[in-house]
Amino acid sequence: MLVVLFREKPQPREPLRLSPEYLPIHLPSERHALDQGATPMTVDRLSVAFRLALPEPTQNYEQDAEWCVIDDGSGWRELRFHNYRDIFRVPGLYEKLFHEILMCRSPPVVCHLLVEQLIRDKVDCSKMRVLDVGAGNGMVAEELRKRGIGKVVGLDIIDEAAEAAQRDRPGVYDDYLVVDLTKLGVEEAAEIVSDGFHALITVGALGFGDIPPEAFQVALDMICNDGLIAFTIRDDFLSENETSGFAALIRTLITAGGLKELRQVTYQHRLATTRQPVHYRAIVARKG
Ligand SMILES: C[S@@+](CC[C@H](N)C(=O)[O-])C[C@H]1O[C@@H](n2cnc3c(N)ncnc32)[C@H](O)[C@@H]1O
Repeated sequence: MLVVLFREKPQPREPLRLSPEYLPIHLPSERHALDQGATPMTVDRLSVAFRLALPEPTQNYEQDAEWCVIDDGSGWRELRFHNYRDIFRVPGLYEKLFHEILMCRSPPVVCHLLVEQLIRDKVDCSKMRVLDVGAGNGMVAEELRKRGIGKVVGLDIIDEAAEAAQRDRPGVYDDYLVVDLTKLGVEEAAEIVSDGFHALITVGALGFGDIPPEAFQVALDMICNDGLIAFTIRDDFLSENETSGFAALIRTLITAGGLKELRQVTYQHRLATTRQPVHYRAIVARKG
């Protein structure tokens, strides 16, 4: 049984805002700061030409098995949420599904934390070069630009992400590379780094068959010493007994001095199709 959730033509509506239930749950004192980071996203201006439906909330799926059905003129078809190729091919679908219906807040939350740290460090944001890994269709770059970041280079493993970023947010990236970080040669890596990056950001892209720990390590190596790292990861991926390898990598980096943690916030990343909250951690650290 399916529940059709929205109409073919979008109606004018209020911009998305962080409501109390989407605030970090461990650090209530940060409410004011994160609220300031909540500005309307491109989701408010993209028009849609499709119908979309989600499973009944009573049906429970693992995060990497969640799905929707979409009709963009050629009949209904099922799409897995992690089928980013097909999702990015449909203009506005990613925004409608994740940001409007499932209320994803990760890009503004993490970008706000990163920029807040830069301001604390008294850094001129307009001179910053940020590498956005798992960049997707550019929502993170859009949030960084809004906050005054001078240069953003996107990196993703699929062409469809680069094409969607160019189609929906032209100009937010200075450069966009379609690369598999686990297969990068030394020369290619040096070429990407060229003038050096001051910060790495990766939002909603670690684990679940997306960016593996070894690719994250390659991305870390592209950032200059003392540079900032801002990333999100699902809460339980950092627990003692998780098997993805991220907990071990992050622990090793922190204990060996490769990363110094500056902020860690647990927040509501989005809703699951059950409409229950999915909690992620946003971490800001300095490279040692
Ligand atoms: C949930 S999307 C997040 C996109 C964007 N960061 C955002 O927050 O809107 C995950 C992105 O990670 C990308 N991705 C998955 N595996 C990857 C890999 N090994 N290297 C680079 N990008 C990858 C996917 O193609 C997809 O664009």
